[in-house]
Parts: sequence; C-alpha cells; structure tokens
Amino acid sequence: MALAHPDLPLKVSRISGSLGAEIRGIRLSQVTLDQAQSIQGLLNEHQVLFFPDQNMEPDEHITFGRHFGELECHPNLSLDTERPEFFELRSEGGAGAIADEWHSDLSCEAQPSVMAILQMVKCPEVGGDTLWANMYKVFEELSPPMQAFCEGLSALHDAHPHGRPDRMAIHPVVRTHPETGRKSLFVNEHFTRRIVELSHDESEALLRFLTGWISQSRFNVRYRWNAGTIAIWDNRCTQHCVLNDFEGERVIQRVTVMGDTPEAASASSWSPHIKPFSALSRHDRQLQGFLNKE
Ligand SMILES: [Fe+2]
Repeated sequence: MALAHPDLPLKVSRISGSLGAEIRGIRLSQVTLDQAQSIQGLLNEHQVLFFPDQNMEPDEHITFGRHFGELECHPNLSLDTERPEFFELRSEGGAGAIADEWHSDLSCEAQPSVMAILQMVKCPEVGGDTLWANMYKVFEELSPPMQAFCEGLSALHDAHPHGRPDRMAIHPVVRTHPETGRKSLFVNEHFTRRIVELSHDESEALLRFLTGWISQSRFNVRYRWNAGTIAIWDNRCTQHCVLNDFEGERVIQRVTVMGDTPEAASASSWSPHIKPFSALSRHDRQLQGFLNKE
C-alpha cells in the first residue's frame, strides 16, 4: 500500500516484507538539503529505496549525491576526467562487470562505502534484476548463542575477485550502524576470506553457513528495473547481487558516498588464530601477512 510520508509529499510503497520501498512524487534533481535528510530517514527505515522515472543527467546525479556526503572518485572507471566521482558500467549478455555474487561494496577497503546511488540507464528486456538482503534481519534471526558467538569475531576481506588479493581489511563480523544503532552481519560471499579468531577449517564452515543463511529469499527484495530508475542503498546494512540471466546490454551509472570505519557491536575477546609452522600453516599465511603489515 502506498502511504504519504509526513515529511515529504510523496508516496512510499514497501515492496517486500524484509526491505525496500519504491518512492514516487519527488524529483531527485531538485531536492533541498532538508528533503535529502528526509530521504536519509526513509533509507534508515527501508535500507534500499527506488525512485522510478528520474532520468538524471550526470551533473544532477553528482549534485544529488553530495547531499549525503563526500563522493568517492574512480579514476579508472569514470566517464571523463572532469567527473572522477561519476562512473558508468556497461555489460553485455552476462559479459562484463556483473556483480553476480552477494557482496557489500568494497568491503575489502578499511572504510567501505556508506551509500550508493545508481541509475539504470539501459536495461535488458528481461533479466538482470538486482537483489538486496536486509543484514539487520539476517543477524536478528540467528539464535542468541550464534549472535553472541559472531559478535566476538572479526573477518579478513580481500579484493581477490578483482585480481588484487593484496588489498585487504579486517572488519567486525557484526557491526553497529552509527545512525540507527542496530546490529547487522558484515561478512559476504564475494570479499570475506577468513574469520580471524578461528582456524581455517572452522572459518570455512562458519562462512559457508553464514553466506548460505544470507542468501535466503525471505531476507531479500528482488527489483525489476526500468530505465531512468534511481536506487539508493545503505551499504552498511545491506548486501546485493545482480542476476546474470540476461541477454543484451545493461548500462548503469552511479556515484558512491565515501565510507566510515565499521564499528564492532562488541569488542573481540579472542586473539587471531594462527598455527605455528606446519603443513596446515599455509592456510594462515594471508592472515599472518596482513597482521604483520598492520
Ligand atoms: Fe555492488
């Protein structure tokens, strides 16, 4: 059901039981700072927002993004050198830069992005939907003992899927959102390699369980795109993946709001688990290497 939001003359329609709302009745290219704060409030409530029929120009897209913080620059991906914070990704029938594995954007960085604002410029006739998962709910529906166990852990993330296994960061497995104060699970299939405080085998088992748990449909929203739609997601409490099931061209444009340091829901009480030299210690080399660099 569509509801008028008290702060804005717009219609807010929830589109799944877990997260996501479609918003109509506002032109994002003309929002004021006050309206942007109301949009931030809606984002805190729904985690991902969709605004159909926006068709923003690159400069409007950048101006809108700056209401929410400083934008990340992508010198290798940007359309032109004048707009390093604006980038476009084209993919053709499953080839190209398709993020078809569950992830939160660049969790391999020390300060992963806070928010992404993406415009679907050209979408295939069918397929190429995007799914998001509500990571608050994913955490809250774990059993209390599993929640307590995960809260004391941290995980090593790396950019191995992007050919840069040397780009690494360690983050809490459960983080607290600085605005909502809610706890969410912060490991993902794409970037997370190892639970720091567990052995390699234990880490593999826990990550296999958690990544399977995250991917359940009941935690998700699946969005069918139209050209001109803007999506905004909170990268701190959601994950997403693109369905690689389409033919034809899919073109997106996005700006990204720079990140913050994930805050642990509780301090870890264990040390990193590194085996002394043995045949099995090969599994600990990457973690050991990162800890030595710190
Ligand atoms: Fe992504």
